[in-house]
Amino acid sequence: MSTSKSLSPWGQLCGASGLTLLLAACGGSTVPLPFLTLDGNAPLVVGHRGAPGYLPEETLEAYTLAIDQGADVIEPDLVSTKDGVLIARHDPNLDYSTNVSTKAEFAGRKKTTTVDGETQTGWFASDFTLAEIKTLGANMTGDAARPQQYNGLYKVITFQEIIDLAIAKTKEKGRTIAVYPETKNPTYHRELGLPLEDTLIAIINKTGWNSKTAPIFVQSFEPSSLKYMRSKGLNTRLIQLIDADDYDLKTGKLTFAAPYDRPYDWFKSGDKRLFSDMVTVTGLTEIKTYADGIGPWKPYIVPVKWELNAAGAPVDKNGDGKTDLSDALSQTPTSLVSDAHKLGLLVHPYTFRNEKRRLTFDMAGDPLNEYLQFYRLGVDGLFSDFADTAVAGRAKYLKETGR
Ligand code: G3P
Ligand code: CA
Repeated sequence: MSTSKSLSPWGQLCGASGLTLLLAACGGSTVPLPFLTLDGNAPLVVGHRGAPGYLPEETLEAYTLAIDQGADVIEPDLVSTKDGVLIARHDPNLDYSTNVSTKAEFAGRKKTTTVDGETQTGWFASDFTLAEIKTLGANMTGDAARPQQYNGLYKVITFQEIIDLAIAKTKEKGRTIAVYPETKNPTYHRELGLPLEDTLIAIINKTGWNSKTAPIFVQSFEPSSLKYMRSKGLNTRLIQLIDADDYDLKTGKLTFAAPYDRPYDWFKSGDKRLFSDMVTVTGLTEIKTYADGIGPWKPYIVPVKWELNAAGAPVDKNGDGKTDLSDALSQTPTSLVSDAHKLGLLVHPYTFRNEKRRLTFDMAGDPLNEYLQFYRLGVDGLFSDFADTAVAGRAKYLKETGR
């Protein structure tokens, strides 16, 4: 249905609605600087869980807003209901992002269980039919300062509804809207007898999207989920996500503590490697055997570190009396983007957010600076909670590269 070219803002802007805006750059004598992306197109903006900076995540309303804000791609996490329907939720535990705890009729479903080795108490999607889940309302997650007035108003939706939205919006907007589903906790779902992969492949086949050029990327933290889908004939672009537990701002190094030290399927199989092994040339070469790209946490590309005083203590750069990420400084970028590109792998880092506490000191409180930093490094796309800001950052990048 689409090619990567048609996803490109370059194609959109020079070919259609933005023509007058860019006539000088597109038709004049100025030769724009090349993009450093793998395919030479402008980087994609992925509406991470929709537009959760504004509306409850993974709802039709949040995805619609992300598209209206200019996102090229909308990103759902997929978990399974009791009746095997793929729904868009970041966590199997519905307590994290819905009003299930307020529903007296479901009080008896509350339980304590483990998800990827972590003990959790709550209400789990696998204990509810889709019809029951449709009676819930979605809540905001993330920073408490984000708008809370929409809590409970919007429904949990299925993956099929997201595809239907992307197709309808592609027609309405005259530009391709792609989808970027993640198999969430795939080993956990398999152990429950509710595997995600075959259902996902069936939906993609039914949509006619089982090809490299279709407007879809399929992502997972667990390599075996991606490998399984490839072995079952899934031909879409596949993206290996690469996590870590945290960063140590004193050293600038990433830290690896369970359950975010390695993919859960590696833990289950006794594979002792860490997520960090995936970003070595050896690791990337292995990923290339089953995937088309990587989705690394941002500091794998730009490490972050405090400035330390003579006593070795962090400097409170912004003078607010405490030291946190907003006092840290971006370090020299790693070679990850070019290492991945040399192997023909796409690079889509996560997650970009507007809140000042999420930005390093050298971003001067302006999230546009962080987008520019990553676009300039040649990332092929990025996941953002604030699609409008990511698009604004890209507009600045297009301008500075002569478009
Ligand atoms: O899916 C890309 C990135 O968002 C991974 O993090 O926790 O949102 O799935 P998470
Ligand atoms: Ca501070």
